[in-house]
Amino acid sequence: MWDPAVYHRFGNERSRPFHDLVARIGAEKPRAVTDLGCGSGELTAGLAERWPAARITGLDSSPEMIAKARALATPVEYAVADVRDWQPAPDTDVVVTNAVLQWVPEHRTLLDRWIRALPAGAWFAMQVPGNFGAPSHRALRALARSDGYADTVGEIVREAPVDDAAGYAALLVAAGAAVDAWETTYVHLLPDSGPEHPVLRWLEGTALRPVKAALAEPAWRGFRAALGATLAAEYPARNGYVAFPFRRIFAVATIA
Ligand SMILES: C[S@@+](CC[C@H](N)C(=O)[O-])C[C@H]1O[C@@H](n2cnc3c(N)ncnc32)[C@H](O)[C@@H]1O
Repeated sequence: MWDPAVYHRFGNERSRPFHDLVARIGAEKPRAVTDLGCGSGELTAGLAERWPAARITGLDSSPEMIAKARALATPVEYAVADVRDWQPAPDTDVVVTNAVLQWVPEHRTLLDRWIRALPAGAWFAMQVPGNFGAPSHRALRALARSDGYADTVGEIVREAPVDDAAGYAALLVAAGAAVDAWETTYVHLLPDSGPEHPVLRWLEGTALRPVKAALAEPAWRGFRAALGATLAAEYPARNGYVAFPFRRIFAVATIA
C-alpha cells in the first residue's frame, strides 16, 4: 500500500524533521541502532554514516519499502517487520522512529514497553506529525464523512492519532526516561507548478493512501477532484508557491 515513489515527492521537506530529530541524539559509540519504520532507507543510511561502528538495523512492515532500502546497498540490515512485534536487544543503544507511530494506534503502550526494556545510556528518538487539526486534514475528514463516501471511507480517516509533545514527555518520564520534547511548525513552500494542487500531491503520499485503497477508481477520481478544490481555497498560491504549514512533534528520551 505504501508507494515509495509517491512518498518521495517533496523529499527534502519530508526529511527535514528526521535530521532535526537525530541532531538531538548524543550517543557517541552505540553498539546497535534500530530505525523503526525505516521506509525506503535513505535516511537510515545517514545513521550508518554517523555511527559506522554500530550494527544498524532498519525495520518496516512494507515489503516495497524494504526492497527499495535493500537496493541502496548500504551497511544496514533490513527486515520486513511490524514495530508492534519489536523488542529492544540488550545492546540497543539508539532507537529512531520517524513519522511512523501515527499509523500505530497502540503506540503509547509500545513506548512504555520499549523505554523500560532499553539498556542504561540508551537514546530513544521519535517524531510524529501533529497536523491532524490543520485545514488539510479537516477538509479530508469532512469529505470522507460526506454523503457518497461515508459508507466506504468515513471511518478510515483518523481524528487525532497522536498526543502533543507534553503528552509524550509525560509518558516517557513515567517510564523512567529523561526527556527532551518539542514541537516545530515548518512552513513548506511548495511550488505551484502543475495542474494539481501541491498539498493534494503531498497528501497522496501519506494520509490519502488508505482512502485510495478503499475506493473504486471512479469514486477515487471524484474524491481527489473535490478535495483538490477545497485545498486550493484553503492554501492559495502566491508568487508561484503554496505555503503549507506543517506541525511536527518530537521527543528524545535517554535512559539513566
Ligand atoms: C511516513 S513513512 C516514514 C518512513 C521513514 N521513517 C522516513 O522518515 O522517511 C511511514 C513508514 O512506516 C511504516 N509503518 C507503518 N506502520 C508500521 C508498523 N506497524 N510496523 C512497521 N512499519 C510501519 C510504513 O510502511 C512506512 O514505510
